[in-house]
Amino acid sequence: MIISIANQKGGVGKTTTTLNLGVALTKLNKKVLMIDMDPQASLTISLGIEPTELKQTIYNALIDETDIKNVILYSDLLYFIPSTIDLSAAELELVSEIGRESKLHDLLENIKDNFDYIIIDCPPSLGLLTVNALVASNAVIVPMSPEYLALRGFGLLQQTIAKVKKLNKSIELMGVLVTMFDGRTSHHKEILTELKNKYPVFESIIKKSVKFPDAVLAGQSIIDFDESFDGAEAYKNLAEEVISWHSKELV
Ligand SMILES: Nc1ncnc2c1ncn2[C@@H]1O[C@H](COP(=O)(O)OP(=O)(O)OP(=O)(O)O)[C@@H](O)[C@H]1O
Ligand SMILES: [Mg+2]
Repeated sequence: MIISIANQKGGVGKTTTTLNLGVALTKLNKKVLMIDMDPQASLTISLGIEPTELKQTIYNALIDETDIKNVILYSDLLYFIPSTIDLSAAELELVSEIGRESKLHDLLENIKDNFDYIIIDCPPSLGLLTVNALVASNAVIVPMSPEYLALRGFGLLQQTIAKVKKLNKSIELMGVLVTMFDGRTSHHKEILTELKNKYPVFESIIKKSVKFPDAVLAGQSIIDFDESFDGAEAYKNLAEEVISWHSKELV
């Protein structure tokens, strides 16, 4: 199954969620491919890869007809398609192409059966790169920090998902993942209650912690960085929730 991690708001934990959900699923013996669809290449950098040193990235598969199989990297049980800043040009280059919204979908058709999960890290925008990710996906996970403006911004993402349904009927909102949660802040608790009343929200809640940026600096997933930390536990629980959502879908 193919999952987009999307939210047009920046810095809400999309890349952190892609990496840690990917690693957590791998530890549950799932075969996972992660795709960096963000020209900022944060996921690529988080995996210890220097984007400027790469010969081939997702850009080449999207624009140059390079076989997508040739842009997949592999290390520590994880399969991965990197990005570079060139990808920002792809957004413009795709505009004039036929089927521009379905390019990624078409590329993944050939390889999706080789993986249990394909997880796509989206950029903080609702442009063609995010639309390509959504058109290719069965489900969307929306990481969200529990702030009033973040909640307001969610409407725009829902409208985009509704539009994508015309091209991809099967897409579903798997859930909102609350990130950077601070239980001491009453505002956060109120927003969490409001979110739960309106949307599917994952039981797993990711608390705010400096361990997350620390893990990035160490070049590790949170699970490898500090397995006993409750943030690592939360991402492992999220992986279990994703698997059980998926198995319900199959019934
Ligand atoms: N639960 C958390 N608590 C504290 N900091 C976090 C948490 N999750 C992520 N971070 C940190 O917040 C920053 C932004 O996270 P991340 O890069 O995952 O967000 P993003 O939504 O992918 O951002 P962008 O929109 O720029 O792609 C990073 O420095 C990351 O290490
Ligand atoms: Mg990111």
